[in-house]
Amino acid sequence: MTRADAAQRLSELREQIHHHDYLYYVESRPEVSDAEYDSLMRELKALEAEFPDLVTADSPTQRVAGAAVDTFQPVEHRVAMLSLDNATSPDDLREFEARITRALPGQRFTYVCEPKIDGLGVALLYARGRFVRGATRGDGRVGEDVSANLKTIRSLPMRLRGPLAEAEEVEVRGEVYMPRKEFERLNAGLEAAGEATFANPRNAAAGAVRQKDPAISATRPLEAFLYHVSWSPGVTFASHWEALEALRAAGFRINPRSSRAESIDEVIAASARLEADRDTLGYDADGVVVKVDTLEMQRRLGSTTHHPRWAIAFKFAARQATTVVKAIEVNVGKTGALTPVAKLEPVPLAGVVISNVSLHNEDEIRRKDVRVGDTVLIERAGDVIPYVVQVVAAKRPAESVEYAFPERCPACGGVAFRPPGEVYWRCQNTACPAQLKERLRHFGSRRAMDIEGLGEAAVDQLVDRGRVKSFADLYDLTVDEMAEYERFAEKSAENLVAAIEGSKTRGLARLLNALGIPMVGERVAQLLATRFGSLERLERATEAELAEIHGIGERIGASVTKFFADESNRRVLRRLGEAGVTLTEASFEEGPRPLDRKTFVLTGALPTLTRDAATDLILRLGGRISSAVSKKTDYVVAGEDAGKKEADARRLGVKILDEAAFLALTRRAS
Ligand code: IVH
Repeated sequence: MTRADAAQRLSELREQIHHHDYLYYVESRPEVSDAEYDSLMRELKALEAEFPDLVTADSPTQRVAGAAVDTFQPVEHRVAMLSLDNATSPDDLREFEARITRALPGQRFTYVCEPKIDGLGVALLYARGRFVRGATRGDGRVGEDVSANLKTIRSLPMRLRGPLAEAEEVEVRGEVYMPRKEFERLNAGLEAAGEATFANPRNAAAGAVRQKDPAISATRPLEAFLYHVSWSPGVTFASHWEALEALRAAGFRINPRSSRAESIDEVIAASARLEADRDTLGYDADGVVVKVDTLEMQRRLGSTTHHPRWAIAFKFAARQATTVVKAIEVNVGKTGALTPVAKLEPVPLAGVVISNVSLHNEDEIRRKDVRVGDTVLIERAGDVIPYVVQVVAAKRPAESVEYAFPERCPACGGVAFRPPGEVYWRCQNTACPAQLKERLRHFGSRRAMDIEGLGEAAVDQLVDRGRVKSFADLYDLTVDEMAEYERFAEKSAENLVAAIEGSKTRGLARLLNALGIPMVGERVAQLLATRFGSLERLERATEAELAEIHGIGERIGASVTKFFADESNRRVLRRLGEAGVTLTEASFEEGPRPLDRKTFVLTGALPTLTRDAATDLILRLGGRISSAVSKKTDYVVAGEDAGKKEADARRLGVKILDEAAFLALTRRAS
């Protein structure tokens, strides 16, 4: 290929790739497949390698180029980058209109409302439609040249189209930000690598824009919305809205949530809509920028040294606040799990006063290194429970010490222990009053035994007086003794005792949930109750049998067998039975149990029965299931690809059944 041909082809390729980038990154409607795009890019790279002197600065291959730098070059903005005056209420917005009306009496104003993105303001310079450089705001007058990093934003055009492309020089402004999804991905990656995470997308975006190595910047995906033409000698617009249209025509991303408003009431309504939708935007917006639409009016209103008089930022309610950790307390849950809670200097946030925030567990405290005396950044988004985002490192007191998780239960002083592989420390004392109180409250809760009146006041007194030491003790409480308790009139004592009596017939599923067996909640309790039908059968189930049940698995199986292996638990259950509490499930049909005590091992895929259905059948007929073949195994039910277990059975002389023989056995049995 001749040099002239190459120059021609390179120009075509650049043109085409710019076009496809625009369709893909700005309009989200690609016209070619990834493969076609890649092939254009490959051709461009190959040709540029052959003719290196024909590489242009705006070539798509130059988006991630340039060496790492130590400092950024200073850039003087064509027009100073001002900040905005704030409004925090609709009244402030009306006051803004009153102010501009005083300045321009007799005028009617129309406005443009734009989401105020919580990112980084940038100024981009183009000459004759070509990208020249991009800069940060800096002090407003002089910023830093971060062109290499901004070029990695694929939606930023390297060449403009439309009227703005014709201008000798154009400076445009916009906001660079990190979409929330990308922010979460970045933080997850940093965390996995044991590196410090970013407190919010804004900090992450700032880090990426000021990253010294453009190759790293390229791995931290940024986006940009443009919202201002700050300098365009020779190209004029009548309104801000027209300027936005020109930016769109030039190939920039314009925020689709920007809108025009005919009056300040419409501005207020549009701002309320944006605030209500803020969680659905996909990026952090901290307010709405309200701008007078007519550029001639903007010009006449002018600016103070700090902000334009023709615009105002309506700020959304804050979601983050800083406050001081006064103490770290540890709460005891019903299974003895110890949960650390930060006691905070009360701080108002998004409409409520926050004075406690859960720190979840030891690892979480360690990861964030939260200490007593620290100033912490907390966040509460919408209805979400408040949480600690991070410690404000600069405000840590000199004498602060790392938090040490207590090795004793703060309620009973019993030994606490963190089982290997678990995140929670647990109080090992089964008689721990704090645990007992939590367990009793759970036992009586609506979806468990539903005992109305067994609230905090009753539980505290029953435990503190030593009257109730287990669930079973509830069932011999009398009206006379309860009536003696504080805040217990005759009537409420009667009601409570009646409610306890009424709880006897809830059935096995509700009882299993009420017992507070670790990892057994409502769903698992229901599964166990329908599978086994009675407490007696469940108590006899082996770990392997439990683990076979779909939706249960090994960890839950182990937790259940451990619970029933405990003599004190068995004693309580026996007493519950004696008191008349129902220990069976009504929905379970009692049938013959011909496989009683026969042990089965299931292996390989059966032609028609699922593993679950076979398990069900065996348990229902009284059989047991084991995971490994031993001399004690009665039958191995082998399907396709049975492998080792079938071989074990042969070696040990255990009877092997295929599905047909297994079904015949169950039929014969019943
Ligand atoms: S207009 C003269 N519009 O908010 C033009 N600013 O406190 C002034 N910002 O530094 C800026 N979204 O970085 C404008 N739609 C928007 C904006 C916006 C975010 C940022 C901008 C500025 C800060 C003002």
